[in-house]
Amino acid sequence: MIRITGTGSAVPARRVTNDDLGKIVDTSDEWIRSRTGIESRYLAVEETTTGLSAEAAKKALAAAGVSAEELDLIIAATVTPDRFLPNLSCEIQRELGAKNAVAFDLNAACSGFLFSLDTAYMYLRTGRYRKALIIGAETLSKIIDWTDRSTCVLFGDGAGAAVLENVPEETGCADRASGAAAGNGAGESRGILSIRMGSDGGRGMVLSCDNRPVSNPYVKRESGLSYVSMDGQEVYKFAVRTVPHIIGLAVEEAGLAVEEIDLFLLHQANIRIIEAVAKRLRQPMEKFPVNLRDCGNISAASVPILLDNVRKHDMIKKGSKIVLAGFGAGLTWGATVLEW
Ligand code: COA
Repeated sequence: MIRITGTGSAVPARRVTNDDLGKIVDTSDEWIRSRTGIESRYLAVEETTTGLSAEAAKKALAAAGVSAEELDLIIAATVTPDRFLPNLSCEIQRELGAKNAVAFDLNAACSGFLFSLDTAYMYLRTGRYRKALIIGAETLSKIIDWTDRSTCVLFGDGAGAAVLENVPEETGCADRASGAAAGNGAGESRGILSIRMGSDGGRGMVLSCDNRPVSNPYVKRESGLSYVSMDGQEVYKFAVRTVPHIIGLAVEEAGLAVEEIDLFLLHQANIRIIEAVAKRLRQPMEKFPVNLRDCGNISAASVPILLDNVRKHDMIKKGSKIVLAGFGAGLTWGATVLEW
C-alpha cells in the first residue's frame, strides 16, 4: 500500500500585496481580488528554488519520521530550477544529504506535483524503491514580466514536499476490501486509490515561456529573454472543462462516489476556476480549501503547499478521502484519490 506519510512547505519571507503591485503596474486590489481571488503572494528575494525545496523537504521528512539516508528516490517538479545543470533534485539531494537516493526532475508545469506523484507511485508499486520524496517548487517571479499586468498579478514563489512510502501490509494496514469505508477516524488507511493523468501538446501555446534561443557560431540571432505569456480565457475554459472530468474519472476508478470525497485540493490558480469546478461536481465550496488568497498561483508547488496547510490545520483525519488535482501548461492535467 502506497501512501503519503509526511508533508512540508516553505514560502519566501517577502509578502507582496495587491496594493504593492498597484505601485508598479496599472492594476488595483479590487480588479485582482474580484477576477482571481488573490490578495497577496510571496516573492523570493534572497531565497532560491533549492533552498525553499530543502526547507519543505526537511519538514516533510520530519513529519514522516524518515531520515534523508532512507530515501531511495527524489523527484522534483519545477519549471524554475536554479540551474540548467545540475538538476534541482540533485541539488536537494545534496542539501539533505540523501546520498542513497536516485534524483531527477520533471517538468509538467502546474500539474508537476501530480506527475511526480504518479511517477513515484509506479516506482514504489513495482517494489523498485520504498521511500520517495516528491517536491513541487518554483521561483516563478524570475520568469514573469513585471511590466505585464495580465500575468504578474497571478503568480508567487514557494515549495511543497511529500514523503511517499510503500508501507508493508504486515504493519497493520488493511487491504482495500476491508478499508475504512466508514470514513474519518475508522479503520486503516488504504493510501493512494487511483491516479488519472492527461496531456494535450496541441494546445500548448495558450500558456508558454520560451527557453533561451539557439545561439552558436552558425546562427545570427539577438539573444533575448522570454517571459510567461498566457491566453487567460482559453486557460480558464480548459480548466473548468477538464478538471471536473479528470476528477470524475479518478473517483470512479477509486470505486467511490464524488459525494464520498471529504476534500478536493485543487491547483490554486483562480478562485473562479475552483468555484466552477465545485459547481460542476455539485459539491459545496467547504470541501475545496483555498490558499491562493495568500499565496497566488505557485505552479507545481501549489498542490503540495495546500496539502501541507490543510494537514497542519487538522482538516485531514485518518480515513479522510482526498482528491488532489492539477492542471496547467503543456497542456497537462491529473487527479489522484487517496485515503489518509
Ligand atoms: N489589472 C487591471 N486590469 C487588467 C489586469 C490587471 N491586473 N489584467 C488585465 N486587465 C484588463 C485587460 O487589459 C482588459 O482590459 P481591456 O478590456 O481594456 O482590454 C480587461 O482587464 C479584461 O481582460 P481579460 O484578460 O479579458 O480578463 P479576464 O476576465 O479573462 O480575466 C484572468 C483575466 C487571467 C484573471 C482570467 O482569464 C483567468 O483567470 N484565466 C485563467 C488563468 C489561469 O488560471 N492561469 C494559470 C493556469 S495554471
